[in-house]
Amino acid sequence: MNKHHARWEPDRYLRYEGERQRPLLELLARIPTLDARSVVDLGCGTGAGTAMLCERWPEAVVVGIDSSDEMLSKALARKQAESGHSRGELMLRDGPALSAPPRGSVSFVKADILSWTPEPSTVDVIFSNAALHWIPGHEGLFGSWVEGLRKGGALAFQVPGNFDAPSHTLLADLANSAEWRQRFPAGDPANKVRSPSEYYRLLRRVAEDVDVWETTYYHRLRGDDPVFDWVSATALRPYVEALSAEERPTFAESYKGLLRVAYPREPSGETLFPFRRIFAVATRSR
Ligand SMILES: C[S@@+](CC[C@H](N)C(=O)[O-])C[C@H]1O[C@@H](n2cnc3c(N)ncnc32)[C@H](O)[C@@H]1O
Repeated sequence: MNKHHARWEPDRYLRYEGERQRPLLELLARIPTLDARSVVDLGCGTGAGTAMLCERWPEAVVVGIDSSDEMLSKALARKQAESGHSRGELMLRDGPALSAPPRGSVSFVKADILSWTPEPSTVDVIFSNAALHWIPGHEGLFGSWVEGLRKGGALAFQVPGNFDAPSHTLLADLANSAEWRQRFPAGDPANKVRSPSEYYRLLRRVAEDVDVWETTYYHRLRGDDPVFDWVSATALRPYVEALSAEERPTFAESYKGLLRVAYPREPSGETLFPFRRIFAVATRSR
């Protein structure tokens, strides 16, 4: 089961855009960097965060990097649809970044985050929202990323910290059950997210100022099987990809049944979905 190469479904992912944007805004608000000439959005997805980065630093060269064609197409379409788009350049590129893109430009590059290494002291903000948890060993890249920052620059990221939540443990238990085990020979992929204290220690080795925090959002979801719907756009994808078209409905029904018990509908009609997220901002001193 290869999580990284499972297909993303942007429209499904965007169904909860409001909920997914809140941590983006809260992360952005904590970045102290005032002036930025070069900003990179690692795992930019549909470009929601990239757009906010452009607004915050209108003079910067902003580059969104992602490995998914589906997500990048959506990001590009989003930007093109923006009326009054004033940025100089908008493009989708394969391969290395241009050596000198114009200021105030935004571009999207298809690349693997693991193979992205900035030149020392060339970037002001390295941003990543809800992407690094897909990448085993991402913490091993912190050193080269911080080295890539100019003085006063920041590495800022947010990752879900909900791998112990019923939405994930029930899925793993179902996949490991006697009925399904043989369909997921690779087993449950290990949690790639570190604790807030671990992130603090790892980042503090390479950056002078490190701010780490966590928040549990109590999302109020509506409709039938809303937690299933949410997870379908993220954690469930690699499991579904491993199954045949005939198997998928049976697996989905069993998982939905488990989720309904773990996340009952409130008398208000809403379903509460607690979601813990971990944030970190590491700044290079001036
Ligand atoms: C949950 S989405 C988040 C998208 C966006 N940052 C946001 O906040 O809406 C995760 C994104 O990370 C991308 N991604 C995962 N692993 C990656 C890798 N190794 N290299 C590049 N992109 C990756 C996926 O393609 C996906 O678009």
